[in-house]
Amino acid sequence: MRSELRTKGNDWMALAPGKLLRIGSNPRCDVVLEGDSFVSGHHANLEHRPPMTRLFEHSANGSTVDGKSVHHKTRLLSQNSQIGFGKSLLEFRTLPGDAPPPSDLPRSGRYKCESCTRMVRRRTPKIERYEFLEFLGAGRAGEVYLALDRETKALVAIKFYVLKNPDEEQLKKDVVRFLKGLQAHSELGEHPFVIGYRDSGYIPGAGIYLVTDLVDGCDFHSLVVEQGPLEWPVAKELFEEILEGLHFLHENQTAHRDIKPSNIMAEPKEGKWTAKIADFDLTHNFFKAGLDSYTSTKTAFYSEGFSPPEQIMQFQKLDPSADIYAIGMTFYFILMGNLPLAEMGDKPAFPELEAQFPVRSPIRDPLKKKNLPTAAIDALERCLRRNPADRFANAGELKKALFGG
Ligand SMILES: Nc1ncnc2c1ncn2[C@@H]1O[C@H](COP(=O)(O)OP(=O)(O)OP(=O)(O)O)[C@@H](O)[C@H]1O
Ligand SMILES: [Mg+2]
Repeated sequence: MRSELRTKGNDWMALAPGKLLRIGSNPRCDVVLEGDSFVSGHHANLEHRPPMTRLFEHSANGSTVDGKSVHHKTRLLSQNSQIGFGKSLLEFRTLPGDAPPPSDLPRSGRYKCESCTRMVRRRTPKIERYEFLEFLGAGRAGEVYLALDRETKALVAIKFYVLKNPDEEQLKKDVVRFLKGLQAHSELGEHPFVIGYRDSGYIPGAGIYLVTDLVDGCDFHSLVVEQGPLEWPVAKELFEEILEGLHFLHENQTAHRDIKPSNIMAEPKEGKWTAKIADFDLTHNFFKAGLDSYTSTKTAFYSEGFSPPEQIMQFQKLDPSADIYAIGMTFYFILMGNLPLAEMGDKPAFPELEAQFPVRSPIRDPLKKKNLPTAAIDALERCLRRNPADRFANAGELKKALFGG
């Protein structure tokens, strides 16, 4: 496959794999948009690493991708994406045929946005070993940044957990317990489909930080929302990787406890996506450590739509079959772009939530339209059983049912 870009009305230009293009009104940019006062000198970067093509937006006025506003954010491009910069329109397409030879252009344009750098500096604490470079996203616990590890020279992801506890002494004890839990992850060892632990620490006022390998791609939630659901042949290979990673955790007596699309990362490698599992057991550590600022309910950890019913009531007793329910929901979301759940209505207050856990809508017919083999549909249906004993016991069993072996 080859990919191309053009400014509307001009010729198509081939994108070499590995290419990073600077786009803006400055004549030194690779794509120069002249005579448009709404275009910044260096408006955006476009990175092409098949199967991923993404835009890093850096402008003063913002841009659009397929009609949706993007400002100081990263957005994936998909087939026939239309990118609006000021009054200019860029188009992107992928066609059958050979791609040009890989580009050896250094990916040096990536961190050049001064206002992003200023923002990152303002929002991150000083940690001698790390130079914070980019904001990657925010979740329930806090923010995630891309940083340079000055010791190893590697790019890493640093996640902060904002902690609030008026009792200083208690907070100190909780922090020590939480850090111990995080450090236990390093003892698991490395796995190709699980994000590697690198470091952790505590900065008073800023919270606990966890340093992991950077996944230079996107999470599966963004992938599906920005590019659409995956077809079975592509999804199948990724599911196998995800289940291998999850099997590794289960074999090591670790349940993930928060499987969902945003906790599984996708990264381009040799022209294909590859998967890595993130955020395992963190909620559990948080709970064990007695920290209470992670969720709004304070007593339960769950991700609406993905967590099984028993997680809402009995968080501490979860076993790998809870991950099986969550992975069933996650795989369905990756294939269909939505969840097979009836409307939940107004959110009831915990603990009545379990009683009103949404009823699962049928999954067979939607999945058949995606040409899934019957055995795969049967396996996904079994993952989503309400009673944990009726599901597969762990990821190894599910992998066998889906892929044999
Ligand atoms: N190791 C990593 N490498 C690259 N990006 C990451 C990494 N870890 C997290 N991110 C990005 O940071 C974003 C925020 O992550 P975070 O785990 O805080 O939130 P979340 O997964 O959306 O929600 P939750 O708090 O429920 O886990 C993710 O959506 C992901 O895109
Ligand atoms: Mg997460």
